[in-house]
Parts: sequence; C-alpha cells; structure tokens
Amino acid sequence: MAARRHSLTRVLSTLAAVVVVLCGAGAVAAGWAFSRVGTDTVDRVDFVRPLAVPPLAPSRVDGQGRRVFDLLAREGSRDFRGDGRLTRTAGFDGDFLGPTLRAERGERVVVNVVNRLPEETSVHWHGMRLPAAMDGGPHQMIRPGATWSPTWTVDQPAATLWYHPHPHGRTEEQVYRGMAGLFLLDDERAAALPLPDRYGVDDVPVIVQDRNFSRSGQFVRTRNMFVGTGVLGDTMLVNGTVGPYLDVTTERVRLRLVNASTARLYDFGFADDRQFDLIGTDGGLLPRTVRTNRIQLSPGERAEIVVTMRAGERVTLRSTGPDLGAGTFADRLAGGRDRFDVLQLRAAEQLAPSPAVPDALVPMERLDPASAVATRTLEFLGRGINGRSMDMDRIDFAATRGTTEVWEVVNAEDTPHNFHVHDAQFQVLTVDGDPPPPALSGWKDTVYLPPHRPIRIALRFTDHSDPNVPYMYHCHLLWHEDTGMMGQFVVVEPGQSPGRPPRHGDHTGHD
Ligand code: C2O
Ligand code: CU
Ligand code: CU
Repeated sequence: MAARRHSLTRVLSTLAAVVVVLCGAGAVAAGWAFSRVGTDTVDRVDFVRPLAVPPLAPSRVDGQGRRVFDLLAREGSRDFRGDGRLTRTAGFDGDFLGPTLRAERGERVVVNVVNRLPEETSVHWHGMRLPAAMDGGPHQMIRPGATWSPTWTVDQPAATLWYHPHPHGRTEEQVYRGMAGLFLLDDERAAALPLPDRYGVDDVPVIVQDRNFSRSGQFVRTRNMFVGTGVLGDTMLVNGTVGPYLDVTTERVRLRLVNASTARLYDFGFADDRQFDLIGTDGGLLPRTVRTNRIQLSPGERAEIVVTMRAGERVTLRSTGPDLGAGTFADRLAGGRDRFDVLQLRAAEQLAPSPAVPDALVPMERLDPASAVATRTLEFLGRGINGRSMDMDRIDFAATRGTTEVWEVVNAEDTPHNFHVHDAQFQVLTVDGDPPPPALSGWKDTVYLPPHRPIRIALRFTDHSDPNVPYMYHCHLLWHEDTGMMGQFVVVEPGQSPGRPPRHGDHTGHD
C-alpha cells in the first residue's frame, strides 16, 4: 500500500516535472521567437551601390493621338547583394520592378500589358481615376501569354502613382517577387512651380521595400509566429538596390518616397534630424508646403519631399520606429520599434543652385461633408470588413457618380491596418475626431488606420460609372488583402441600380 502510494507520488511528481520542463521550454521558445522580432540596421548599412533609377518607359503616339506604352510582365533573377547568389524575381520589362510610366493630364493613354509569367496576373493603376474595366483589379485577370490593353484619359492633378498586380489571393506573392512600378502624372500647374523636376537628377524615385533572403538567396515570405501584419523583412531595397547611395549635384533634391512594401510602415527622416519640405502626398501636390522632419508612410502611400543639401556632405535617409498606436507590445511585433538606414545622399563638392520651395503649391477645393448624400461605416476586423470577407461575386454597395460621400473607416483591432480605395482620391476630415495633421491635408488614396481611432474621409466619384464592374477598397497590408480584408463597390449613374460582377472565369485581353 505504502509502496504503491509511493510509486503514485513518483509518477505524479515525474509528470509535474515533465509539465514544468515543457512549459519552461515553451516559454523559452516563445521568448526566443519574440526576441527575434525586431530589426535595427542604423549605422550598419554599407552604402556601396549607386541607387538604381527605374528607366522612363518609352512611349509613342498612335494614329488616334493616344500615348501608347508596352509593359511585359516576366520572371527573372538578380544578384541583389553582389555575392553571386541569384534571387528568383519577377518584374516588368526587366528582372525586378518596372519602368516609370509618365503622362500629362489630358492625354489618352494605352498600356499594352503582355503576361509572360507562367501564371495569371493583373496590373492595377494605384491612385488613378479611370473606368472600372481599366482598373486592373481582380476582375481584369490576364492569362499567361495574353495581352491586355486598357485605355483611359488621364484627368487628375500631377502625382506620383504606382502600378502593381492585384490577383485575388496572390497580390502579396507577386508584389514581393518584384512586380511594381511608378506611374507619374504631370500637369501645367505643377510644371509652373519652381520645384526640382529633372527625373533621375534632382527628382528621384525612392521605392522602399523590405525583404528577407534565404541562405541560398531566395526571397522568403515566412511569417514570424507572433506577427499578424504579414512579412516583415530585415533587408531594405530602394528601387531594387541594397545599400544604395545617391549622388546629389543640386542644392535641392526632390525624393518621391513610395512605400511599396507588403506590410511594413516607415517613419522617414534624416540621420541628423534635419527639416525638409513635404510638398506632395498620394494624389499630388499639397495646398501648402509642410516643413517637417518626419513623414510616416504605410504600405501603398507616397510622399514627395524636397531636401536641402550642403556641398560635400553626406546624410542618410532613415526610418525610425513608426507610431502604430497599438500599444508597446503590439507595436513592437508589427515593426514599430524597427529602424533602418535606407539611402545615403552624397552631395557633390559643387552644387548647382536650386530655387527655394514656394509655400503655396496648388489650390485644393475642399469637399463639403454637409453635402454628402451617403455616409458609410467600414469596420476593419478579423478577416474582413463589416463582418464580411471579400467575395468576387458580391457588390457591397453602390455610389452615385457626381455625388459626395463621407466614409468613416475604423480599425476595430489592436493591430495595424490601413485603408485604400480605388478610383478616387479622398480628403481626410478627421482622425479620431480631430482635424488631420498637415501630412494628411492633401489628396489621399491610402491612409493608416491606427487601432480604434476612426478616420472620416470625404470622397467623390466624378468621371466614370459602370453598374457591373466593381472597384476595390481594402487593407493595403497585402497579406490582409489577400486573405479577405477587401470589398467591392460600383459607381452608378443617378437612379441606376447596381448590376452583377462579370462571371468568375472571365478574363480580359487577347492571346
Ligand atoms: Cu495598390 Cu487595390 O491597390
Ligand atoms: Cu489601388
Ligand atoms: Cu490589415
């Protein structure tokens, strides 16, 4: 009896010991995994490669006066770090990223997109006002080998827009491999301002992307078990260049910052905390120049800044931890404590003079929220918006062309999301009830959604309607978009009712 009780005690205490050891191991593993969260490359980047500047895409004007571009989506490979390890990539016209398309307001454009990938893709013109059938979302899929030739008239202010694939469920993967490029728009108003505007000289694209590389040099999209935002990389690419520097030859240089990362937010500034001029955001130039030393961008957002340089100096563009507003723990998991040295600016010994940046830029008509014909609430939660996950066959609502709407967008979770809408640039009315900060004072198509702080925006769908073909609105953290945090709306004429999205298997383009 006593012996039996003894062995029972022994079994129990062994079991307890096993549980303690397992829990301990679990805690150690969790602690280890947590400690692996977080990246800091400040003062650890060798700026040894000249910044690549995406070439301007050649174009021609056809018999109908349309500006015609060709864009070839294809696979490729590149040795990013100069160590002989080739990364399998994809890009437009080249191995990684794509050429910069450029058009004037008022021009009619055609882009012949040829898909040479072994899989379907689409090309979406992020920030562009255009007919839904030309938008390049998940309803305009291009089969392998096919060509899609969307055409539209550019009718919006000068801006830094971009293009990228948008296949439902595969956007993160295709963008991560390298499929993205810029689409710059020009207009007379912007051209009349004394701003640096020589492409690649004093007006330079800065497409920022974070990547992880495997031992063999491949891009890896493994997610840390604690990170719900998507893939956060530890290596910075700027226009595809690792460790980039830019030779500056003028007193002032304009940087077109594009956050083309799939999940990461950045808070850009300079290593010496110098002030710079923020002159534009997603939809174009601001009404007034904003003097600041920081600009935060979530995935998909853009900012145009002008930096003043002293002859002979070197200064580093740096991202410090973005304020995600999610609390200490969640912020850290989502990259809110990460720091990166991004790009080194190297001023020549002699700098050509540049005119001062004007205070007043372009006039902006304010949308009147009192004239809104509809007010909508969009709640970002779980794997969807307003409790529904993306469904290609469901139109979530219809907006009427020519009317103003007010949308209240709220991130109902404790982790980061952002909001992007197709076909329109919007104005931010309030952030959690307060007037927007200066960086949100211009036209926007993407905005960060800090947890539990509603953002009210006003928007107007002016030019195009189609009761059947939807536009998208979604979180631009691409893993979230791919897993259902996206909805669809149509723009209808007054009195018209929404129709039905094209059938699933439908493709666009021709072989
Ligand atoms: Cu930049 Cu719907 O995307
Ligand atoms: Cu878009
Ligand atoms: Cu999200």
